[in-house]
Amino acid sequence: MTAPAPRTPIYLDGHATTPLDPRVRDAMWPWLLVPANASSNSHSYGWRAAEAVEQARQQVARLLNCEPRELIFTSGATEANNLALKGVLQSPRAKAWGLVTSTAEHRAVLDPARRLSRRGTEVVFVPVDSRAAIEVDCFRDSLTHQTRLVSLILANNEVGTINPIAQVGSLCQERRLWLHCDASQAVGKIPLDLSSLPVDLLSLSGHKLYGPQGVGALFIRRTEPPLPLEPLFDGGGQEQRLRPGTLPVAAVVGLGTACELAAQEMAEEARRTAGLRDRLWEGLSSRLSGIHRNGDPHHTLPGNLNVSFDGVPGPVLLTRMTEIAVSSGSACSSAEPEPSHVLRAMGVPEALALATLRFGLGRFNTADEIDVAIDSVSRVVEELRTDPHRAK
Ligand SMILES: Cc1ncc(COP(=O)(O)O)c(C=O)c1O
Repeated sequence: MTAPAPRTPIYLDGHATTPLDPRVRDAMWPWLLVPANASSNSHSYGWRAAEAVEQARQQVARLLNCEPRELIFTSGATEANNLALKGVLQSPRAKAWGLVTSTAEHRAVLDPARRLSRRGTEVVFVPVDSRAAIEVDCFRDSLTHQTRLVSLILANNEVGTINPIAQVGSLCQERRLWLHCDASQAVGKIPLDLSSLPVDLLSLSGHKLYGPQGVGALFIRRTEPPLPLEPLFDGGGQEQRLRPGTLPVAAVVGLGTACELAAQEMAEEARRTAGLRDRLWEGLSSRLSGIHRNGDPHHTLPGNLNVSFDGVPGPVLLTRMTEIAVSSGSACSSAEPEPSHVLRAMGVPEALALATLRFGLGRFNTADEIDVAIDSVSRVVEELRTDPHRAK
């Protein structure tokens, strides 16, 4: 007798990656079937590819309300962040320019910041408050006479908290500092208007908004004089020479389509997703005592819920979540899970930080799935609290 096939877990890990929207897949598909190099300017295959790339650039620009020429395509947000930080701070014009960032950034900012620091750049890591947000006064106090670039996450990828970017941006303008935002989790989820938001550089990623993996973009505001920005590597002249290399046309088309869909559907989708998030939180808090919601319940992403559980052995919690695909608040790259640096920066005690689940809800989740999740999480937490042997 064969064992019954395991049921596919319900996907609730939308901050790690979102499912590809079938409409995005359909838009990409034709571009996987033709040879399409957008830099080939001697024949119609290349011209059509270049047109498709420019159309995608316009779609991204419309979502963000910026000019298409202010966007360059990259392989994702990690590359866009690296380009923003290293491109400015290692440009030949950079003379002892310093960076201010926060302790609650994604590693795609923390790691380049640390590398810059090892190479001699002054880097200040501003602490965040118990909701993972920057306090503007504390941020102001951390600026030094060397500071030229500030990099802050727009919406936190673990707890969803939205930083006060408009206030920080105004302060940066007053002090003539450039502001970079990692907006990977925010783009397509909350409205962003770059015609009024005082941000100079902004990173986004295709696979966080129902587009493909391996593509993203960096917004670079056109200013006079232009922002000093050096490419990370050399090669062809693509993307204004700032990001050389053949563009993945199908992926770029996918990113453009994903942005167009987000522009059309964001308001309704945010309302629906926030409703599911509230249903999940209310369901869990009515079934379980000793649970804590991390982050800022008011200034947060519609699809984020980050919950810690008292009296639960953290390392086993995730392994017991077989019906739902979620992630923990811990970095599991090592054998011994470590509590998330974001939760630690917020002051969450280590044991509680380890016993944490991050839910990322989105476009394709249903109320029925949320009810299964409430049931499943409540059952596992109760079992782990009452029967220590099951925790082994
Ligand atoms: C806030 C944030 N920045 C950067 C990244 C990295 O994005 P990508 O996978 O496009 O390089 C992620 C993805 O996990 C993220 O959540």
